[in-house]
Amino acid sequence: METAWTNQLSVGNAVIDSEHQNLIVMIDRIESMIRAKNASSLPQELEQFEHYLCVHFINEEKLAQAVNFPFGKNKQEHQFVLKEFQRMRNELLAKKGVWTDDAAKHYSNFLSEWMTSHIVREDMLMKPVLQTHDYKFWPGSKEGGANYAAGSIASLYLQLFGTLTP
Ligand SMILES: [Fe+2]
Repeated sequence: METAWTNQLSVGNAVIDSEHQNLIVMIDRIESMIRAKNASSLPQELEQFEHYLCVHFINEEKLAQAVNFPFGKNKQEHQFVLKEFQRMRNELLAKKGVWTDDAAKHYSNFLSEWMTSHIVREDMLMKPVLQTHDYKFWPGSKEGGANYAAGSIASLYLQLFGTLTP
């Protein structure tokens, strides 16, 4: 299932919207690889995705704190999806490109369905608060946002949950 970005998915903040757009592009790429049973590029692609997703979650939390949005429920959801993502990644990588079309459908739907529900059901709750700020608002700077190169995945988990894994 392909997820397409529309203005309906805007949560009212430029940095978060652009990160969501990037995540959707990454998910489409991963889904194509899963459908094509292309196991050679998948490990690297999944690692990049996990890294970017952690940075995105760190940024969302930073923004929520800056606008005084209670973030507990979102944080739980982030931890849950990262755990599920790791489980799916480990399963997929263990299969080394040998999986059925049904399994391909199952794995590829997981990320796009999660992405839509992450934006529509979780992040959208912040929209009324974010709309009281400038669309380009970012705590402490005019630019800010995800720094893809920042830190190892373990150090990102440490920042997010105080542990080395989700
Ligand atoms: Fe998000």
